[in-house]
Order: sequence, then structure tokens, then C-alpha cells
Amino acid sequence: MTKPFLSIRGIRKSYGSVTAVKNVSMDIAKGEFMTFLGPSGSGKSTTLYILAGFQDPTGGDILLKGQSLLSTPSHKRNIGMVFQRYTLFPHLTVGENVAFPLRIRRRPQAEIAERVKAALKLVRLEGFEDRKPALMSGGQQQRVALARALVYNPPVLLMDEPLSALDKKLREEIQFEIRRIHQETGVTILYVTHDQEEALRLSDRIAVFSQGEIDQIGTGPELYSNPATRFVAGFIGDSNFLDATVVAREGGKAQLSLGNGAMVEGVPLHGPSSANGKASLMLRPERLSLSRASVPSGIAVTVRDITFLGNNIEVSTATAAGVDLAVRLPFGHEAISSLARGEEVWLTFDTASAHAFV
Ligand SMILES: Nc1ncnc2c1ncn2[C@@H]1O[C@H](COP(=O)(O)OP(=O)(O)OP(=O)(O)O)[C@@H](O)[C@H]1O
Ligand SMILES: [Mg+2]
Repeated sequence: MTKPFLSIRGIRKSYGSVTAVKNVSMDIAKGEFMTFLGPSGSGKSTTLYILAGFQDPTGGDILLKGQSLLSTPSHKRNIGMVFQRYTLFPHLTVGENVAFPLRIRRRPQAEIAERVKAALKLVRLEGFEDRKPALMSGGQQQRVALARALVYNPPVLLMDEPLSALDKKLREEIQFEIRRIHQETGVTILYVTHDQEEALRLSDRIAVFSQGEIDQIGTGPELYSNPATRFVAGFIGDSNFLDATVVAREGGKAQLSLGNGAMVEGVPLHGPSSANGKASLMLRPERLSLSRASVPSGIAVTVRDITFLGNNIEVSTATAAGVDLAVRLPFGHEAISSLARGEEVWLTFDTASAHAFV
């Protein structure tokens, strides 16, 4: 087997009694777009800073093409970096900002001029060489930062929430540009965000961070359709959770009792066997269906609200025990016509699309 391009092996980082990163490992292929996705404080930036060499890990190793990077100082790692805040030198022009990494590498003037031009072309800012950063929009400034990070053709580019200071429209526009630049240059990108939509839009694979550890690594569709933990199920896509009791389990599937006599079979079950049999059943709103006739394995609920969302209609329902369950049905779905608040209906679902977590 060929060696992985970039390998993160059991990285840990503690600050006194605070453990920022517990045990992070992953292999990244050359040219891959890998995203670290997770809530605030889950260790995404710390892991990225360790890769960049701004922080030393408490334990573990990082290998680039099989060689440890840890003894190489940050400025010699040849890794490009773009941060959340604009970090351009305000007194330098755009051209001088982009030229900076080449100047400290003492490249000849003719090469610098040529590469700066090419980098600005790549981020679609040709002709902006003499502009000062203060006279540019936030999106333009982040493009300059991107050009500066890519100007010396680093094999790896790290980006820490580079779009979070931008408004939604600009963010989507630059997401598109980042995808294009990734495809054009083939650079390996490690990207940090806490926005699941951004992660799904950009990434080849996503590493879901929770409390300093990775819960799961996979493509967007893998994480959505086969979440390994309750946390991943709640973080990728929309989800409902319902308390359940495991009645029987066999080969990764469970028979669950949902209370009030409702019983379902063949639900994928994740996690160890627990003594009390308590589990949490995850149901995607778009995988639920609604029936007016009583269904043996259905969940009896009361309709609370009906909201038109364009392509979809969201029906908010609640069980007798007061658990809210959202159902999303395509516009025009026959079950919705004349559906009224306060009506009692049954929710049904394909058991293979549900997941239970112990
Ligand atoms: N220099 C530091 N000293 C002490 N604790 C730190 C330091 N840097 C980070 N931490 C702690 O380590 C944990 C992980 O922080 P990190 O910045 O990696 O999270 P993050 O996932 O990037 O979060 P965010 O989405 O808010 O940027 C947090 O609990 C944070 O408070
Ligand atoms: Mg961070």
C-alpha cells in the first residue's frame, strides 16, 4: 500500500488541566479536501495550528510523505494558511502582500512578479496589485489572503473559518471560488468550519469533532446516512430523537419499543449493549411519512403546526408524552391536503433509514 500523503497520528494537546485535543488521527490523500467540522471548543483550530507548527502537540506525530514534521519550524513547513480574520499587512499593497512569502524565500524579482500575477488571476483579482487592503471588501481581502497562501505552491493549504466574517451571499460566492481553486491547483486542503452546509458543499471528506476527539470521518452522504454516534446524527442533517427501549438486538439491528405499544424492528443500532436497554431513536424529518389511518408500528402524534417552506411542508407534531417530532413532506403530498392543527395522525418510517444509539 502507498504511504498516505499527510498522516495525523494520535495527536494530543493539553494546556495545564485543559485538554484541547484528546486523540486525533487521520490519513489525508494528496489533493483531498478534508474539513474539520464541530462545535465551538471541540479542538478544530488547535489541531490545525499543530499542523501549521504554531503549537507543539503534547503527544502524537504528523507525517508528510512519511516524514515527521514536528521538528521542522513553522516557516519551513511549506504549508499555506488562511485565517478567519483578515490578516493582510495594512501598510502594504495587494501586490506586496501576495509577494511577501516569495520575498522571505528570496525568490528573484522576475519570478515574484510572474507568480503574483498568476496568484491574483487565480483568485480573480487581476489589476488590484496597487490597491491597499483597507479599500477592499471583506470578500476581496480574503481572496488576497488566499492568493498569498497559494503563491509559493504549497502542497498543503490550511484554512481556519476563512469565511465566517462574511455575509451569506459573499460566503457562498467564495465557497464556489475555493472549490474551483481546489480543482484547478490540486492542492491538499484542510478546512475548519462549524457550518455543516459549508462542510457538505466543499469537502471530499468531513471529520466530525466533538470534545477534542473525532467521532467519525466520512463523505457527507456517509455521515448523513450512516452516523456512528448520536452526536454526528444530530450535527449532520436535521434529526428528531425519541426515547426507546431495546427489546432485542441481532447483527447490528434492533427491535425497539417506543412506548404506548408501538414496536419497530430492523433498526440499525449503534453503541454497546446497556443493562437498562435505553436507547435514542433518530428519525430524519424527510424520512417520516404521515398516515391518517392507524398503523400498527406507527407513532401516534398530534399535529401542532403546518409550515410552508417552498419545496417542502414542515408538519410539527408531538407525541402524547410531549416529544416534538418534525416531519418534512414534499409540497403537494396527498397526506397534507386538509390536514389541520390538533388532528391525531400516525407517523411511519422505513426502519432502515432510522438509527438507534445506546
Ligand atoms: N492557549 C490556550 N490555553 C488554554 N486553553 C486553550 C487554548 N487554546 C485553546 N484552548 C481550549 O482548547 C479547547 C479547544 O479549542 P479550539 O480553539 O481548538 O476549538 P475550536 O474547535 O477551534 O473552536 P471554535 O469553533 O470556537 O473556534 C477549548 O476548550 C479552548 O478553550
Ligand atoms: Mg477555532
